[in-house]
Amino acid sequence: MQKVKHVSLLTAVRQANRQISLKKRPVGAPTAEDFEAREASIGTPGRGEVLLRNLFLSIDPAIRGWMSDARSYLPPIEVGEPIRSGTLSQIIESNAEGWPVGQIVQALAAWESFSVVSSRNLHGKVKSIEGIPLSAMLSVLGGTGLTAYFGLLDVGQPKAGETVLVSAAAGGVGSIVGQIAKIKGCRAVGLTGSDEKCVWLTDELGYDEAINYKTTDLRVALKEACPDGVDVFFDSVGGEILNTALTRLTHRGRVALCGAISQINQRGLPPGPSNYLQLLARSARMEGFTTLDFANRYDEARAELAHWIGEGKIRHRDDIVEGLENAPVHFLRLFSGEHRGKLMVKLADAEV
Ligand SMILES: NC(=O)c1ccc[n+]([C@@H]2O[C@H](COP(=O)([O-])OP(=O)(O)OC[C@H]3O[C@@H](n4cnc5c(N)ncnc54)[C@H](OP(=O)(O)O)[C@@H]3O)[C@@H](O)[C@H]2O)c1
Repeated sequence: MQKVKHVSLLTAVRQANRQISLKKRPVGAPTAEDFEAREASIGTPGRGEVLLRNLFLSIDPAIRGWMSDARSYLPPIEVGEPIRSGTLSQIIESNAEGWPVGQIVQALAAWESFSVVSSRNLHGKVKSIEGIPLSAMLSVLGGTGLTAYFGLLDVGQPKAGETVLVSAAAGGVGSIVGQIAKIKGCRAVGLTGSDEKCVWLTDELGYDEAINYKTTDLRVALKEACPDGVDVFFDSVGGEILNTALTRLTHRGRVALCGAISQINQRGLPPGPSNYLQLLARSARMEGFTTLDFANRYDEARAELAHWIGEGKIRHRDDIVEGLENAPVHFLRLFSGEHRGKLMVKLADAEV
């Protein structure tokens, strides 16, 4: 196909490509010293590729996994490479059929101003929806919302009247999970790390109860908050929180294994949940998933999430900072819990 360029954008942006790259692999918790800011040239897309101007970066715990030299669902980021990241980007040069210049897309790109990516790493064309900010296409209508949607509805399979327990409930994913649980007629109980976030969960997001896992005896608090047990546990934390929650599962209860942020910075293998025989005793199941498992149904999920937002049934909060150089510090906030909702970095406005 003929290569198409967005001339005005290209001339406007013929500048160096600023990047944040992996300086060294973290040992344990990541620090700002693991990253390096640098400049590189802007690449040229080959056959089947596009040149993107990145507008927003998605700040996700998965990035910490890719910083390690470990087997995962994607290969590790090599030292010296820009940090891989979900992005909301605009195509400014296209050598890929069906991906026109000017189109805004969800992509798997990197912490840099411009990225050359294969069309295989373009995960959807973004259509603006009245009343919904563009950034939401990377959060509640992007990977974060899709993770909550498929993890809860397909893996957790909640039924009306059941109790859904959510860990990291005030985070990007967890804040959406509880609201979907309420839409489905369930009782939603959230775990989070501060009293202020507990109030946000119950007073603004509609969680029935919220527990500060840092200041309570979780075993006791769960008995009180989930007197009939936990039918679905949507777990993003792992470790001792998972271990304790297993003791509250109901008969045929379900655990949707979304993530294990408490273990992500630990050296060596995570400890096994010693209470795993509760799965046997309750004829329960624990199932892992990645959102990529549902790639052929993203449009369906986005449409339903957008409908719920329009009806006022889902509220979302995006925690956005501006400037590529702020990406590492913003990323570290994932582990300190100093945020509510979805973390993102804004790099640029879209050109119309
Ligand atoms: N399976 C998938 O396809 C998929 C896709 C996207 C994300 N995920 C997973 O979903 C989870 C949430 O991701 P997110 O982007 O929405 O992040 P997030 O929930 O916005 O941020 C992580 C939160 O985890 C809590 N946390 C951090 N360290 C903790 C610890 N040691 N113990 C307990 N809680 C801790 C903090 O909240 P508190 O203040 O409440 O402690 C923090 O705000 C992650 O585990 C991620 O890996 C999975």
